[in-house]
Formats: sequence, C-alpha cells, structure tokens
Amino acid sequence: MRKRTALVAFAATLTLLAPPAQALPQEAPLAQASLAAAAPGIGHDYEPLRDAAARSGKTFGFAYAPHIANSDAKYKAIAQREFSMVTAENNMKWDATEPRRGQFTFNGADEIMSFAAANNQKVYGHALVWHAQMPAWAKSITNRDDMRKAMNDHIKGVAGRYKGKIEAWDVVNEAFEWDGSRRPSELQKVMGNSWIEEAFRTARAADPNAKLCYNDYSTDGINSKSTAVYNMVKDFKARGVPIDCVGFQTHLIVGQLPASNKQNLQRFADLGVDVRITELDIRIQLPASQQALQTHATEYGQVVKNCWEISRCTGVTIWGISDKYSWIPQVSPGWNAALPWNDNYSTKPALASVANAMGAKKNGSSTGLVCGISAKVGANWSTGYTTDIVIANKGATPIDGWTLQTTLPDGQKLATGWSGQFTQNGQRLSVSNTSFNKTIKPGESVSFNFNTTKNGNSSTALRNFTVNGQQCA
Ligand code: XIL
Repeated sequence: MRKRTALVAFAATLTLLAPPAQALPQEAPLAQASLAAAAPGIGHDYEPLRDAAARSGKTFGFAYAPHIANSDAKYKAIAQREFSMVTAENNMKWDATEPRRGQFTFNGADEIMSFAAANNQKVYGHALVWHAQMPAWAKSITNRDDMRKAMNDHIKGVAGRYKGKIEAWDVVNEAFEWDGSRRPSELQKVMGNSWIEEAFRTARAADPNAKLCYNDYSTDGINSKSTAVYNMVKDFKARGVPIDCVGFQTHLIVGQLPASNKQNLQRFADLGVDVRITELDIRIQLPASQQALQTHATEYGQVVKNCWEISRCTGVTIWGISDKYSWIPQVSPGWNAALPWNDNYSTKPALASVANAMGAKKNGSSTGLVCGISAKVGANWSTGYTTDIVIANKGATPIDGWTLQTTLPDGQKLATGWSGQFTQNGQRLSVSNTSFNKTIKPGESVSFNFNTTKNGNSSTALRNFTVNGQQCA
C-alpha cells in the first residue's frame, strides 16, 4: 500500500480550514435573527412549519409574549422561523389596552405589530370584548347604556388603531357556559342578550377589512356549548349580523380530544364561516409518562389533520412555544408539558406529529437534499488506487452531517482513508463526516479520499453513490 504525501497534505489543509466548533450553523441564527427563516429548526430538522402550512393555504400561529422574546433568544428564533401568524397572548386585551377609561395604552400591542411586520407574519387580534382581563372600571359599570358606550368605545379605540392591519379579530371571547346558556358576566347581566351582536357591528364599522370571529373553549366537539355557539352563528348569518369566523381554543387534556372534533369544525364551516384552532395546547399530568407523550403527539397531529382536511379552516395557532412559559401550570398546578417544545427547547413527539400532519419536509437529509458527487481516480498502481471524492451542496439549505455510500468493485478492500470515517460492509463502503467537515453550506463542497487494494480486480469504477441515503443529481 502506498500513502501519498500530497493527499496527507490535502487532508491537513482541510483540518486547518475547519470552522471552530462554536461556529456550527445550528447556533448561528440566534445571533442573526433576520436569517432565522432559512436557519435550521431548534429541536428538529423540518423546514419552517410556516412554509409547510403555506403550501396548504393555511397559517401556523402562536401566542406571542414580547417580553419573553426580548430575554430568550431561542424563543425568538423559533417565533420567527416557524410561524406565519401571531396572536398577542395578553397585550391586546382590554386591561392592557385601556387600563383607565378612555386612556389607551398601545405599547405592547404595537410591539406585537412590528414584530409580525418584521417577520412577514399576519396578526390575529385577541380579544376585543371578554369578561376576563376586563379592567375593574369597566366591570363596575351598572348602567346599560354606559356599559354599551364603554364597550363600543373600546372596540373603536383598539380595532380602529389597527384598521387594515389585522387578519381577524376575536370580537367576543367566551360568552357561553358549558350547558349552552349565556355566561352571567357583567357584560351579559348589564346589557342583556344583544351585546354580542352589537360588539360585532361596532367592530365591522371600526375595521371593515378584518374578519370578525367568535372564540371559545370546550367547544371542540359537538356538545351543548358548541351547539349554542353554532345556533348563534346561524342566527347571525340569517339576520345579517357581521360574523366571518369562529375560533376554537382547543385547550385540551391529554386523551380527551373529542372524537367529533372534525365533524364539529365542519358543521360551522358549512354555515359559511371560517374556522380556526386558535389556542391549541394539550396538558399532561406531571411527570409526563411515555404513553401520555405518545397520546399527546397523536392528538396534536389529529387536530392539525382535522383542520387541514377542512377547506374553510384557516390554520392552527398554538398557545405558546415552550412549556417553560406556558400558562398551564398557573391554571392547572401539577400539569403542563402542553406544548411541542420542552422547557429546554428539545421537542416532544408532538412536534414531528404536527410537522407530518402538515406535510413538512426535512431539511438537509431526505427530501431536502440536493447534491452533486464527483469521484476521480487520483493515482493508480498495480495493487491499488486512490479515489478523490467531492460532495457539493447544490441546495438552498445546509447539509448538516453526511454519510456517502458507494459500492467497490468485487473483491476490493478499503485500505486507508482521509478526512472521513470509513467502514466497509461487503462491497459497500460508507464514509461519514468528521467533526471538521460535518456541515456543507449551500454552494460549498467537502472532499475526502481513500486508497483501495485491488485484490486482483483492476477496475476503478465505483457504483451506486448515495448521500444520506439519496442519490445526488
Ligand atoms: C391566558 C394567558 O395565556 C395568560 O398569560 C393570562 O394570564 C391569562 O390568559 N383563553 C384565552 C386566552 O382566550 O386569552 C387565555 O390566555 C387562555 C384562555
């Protein structure tokens, strides 16, 4: 066996040029927010889920809390990469936007708008009128006309400010009880049944371009509550009260996704309104068992699938990103694990389940791979030869980790290789990256080489090249 000085020198050059470990691309997007959409996913290797959703004409949204993005780079990077729609988790609610009567504060809401604009995301407005997070001054009103004025002024103030910039508004949130009766909120008690339609009419006048939605929880299957909402929407449509959409919060307990979820969404869509999953999370009792996490994944996937199979379902919004900041432990002590990302930004099986339900492609490996291979004989002597191989990344996303396989002519054996990790199984040769040539950026290439002993077979024709299990162009 001969070992050529030139090859050793070449391998050494590659080593010298290898990027330092801290510059690995999966960490780069945290510092370069504007590149986030093209950067690899955090905790998974799917394309941005917003891209998958867009292919189906849908949006993937999340509940956004700007103060978290300002202190947690991973949260921010996921927020920018994965989602095409933003819902303010709290900043657009009545107490946040009009803490004192007639005095509007839009700092937080404006922050949501500019984040969404900077990241090419739509904004789902949440929520104009709701009995919770309604400021004490409004709750204390007892005169009917005064309450109507306060409600209408509030709607005009908030919907008016963002006129033309909001995709859809939750005009009214959570106005029904589980048995289908109206919730006895201050709004209901002081104004009587007509307050909901009045809120919708005022919202239409304030922002004629926004879609106007009614939003509620525990309406995910066919039950007394969802049927009461259904009847209200049907009545509104019949009487020309402006309503365009219904939001289904879908705050679920693991194992309790109603079997009638899709049928329920479909019956609303059939009334001529859009439907949306607006606040999806699925809580698990802690510590989460493997079995619970599997059911969790199945149900996440099922909810997405149900929406994807209904043309009038505009998409799915999840209520947060990481369990670390979920609202669940506050309302359900001892429960959480509700979101696809764990506290430490690893992902649960639910993430893959959502991605697959959307038809998301994998980056860098399987479907996302576009590569080129050149193999040349560098030296050839009586008992052996050297092959020089170049793998080029001709795609738009980095190849992060690679294994090339090829078939050696019969009887031949690998002798020595450089700049790769080599194994031979029968005539099949596998070469995987080393730590210094792991990533092949778009437009770049890596090289490696090896000596083969001929063992009486003088052919130098290697066959059947694949990279990460796929043939290159
Ligand atoms: C929750 C937020 O996540 C919490 O931060 C806040 O303390 C309470 O409200 N239904 C809704 C959302 O419509 O606005 C609620 O959000 C969750 C239930």
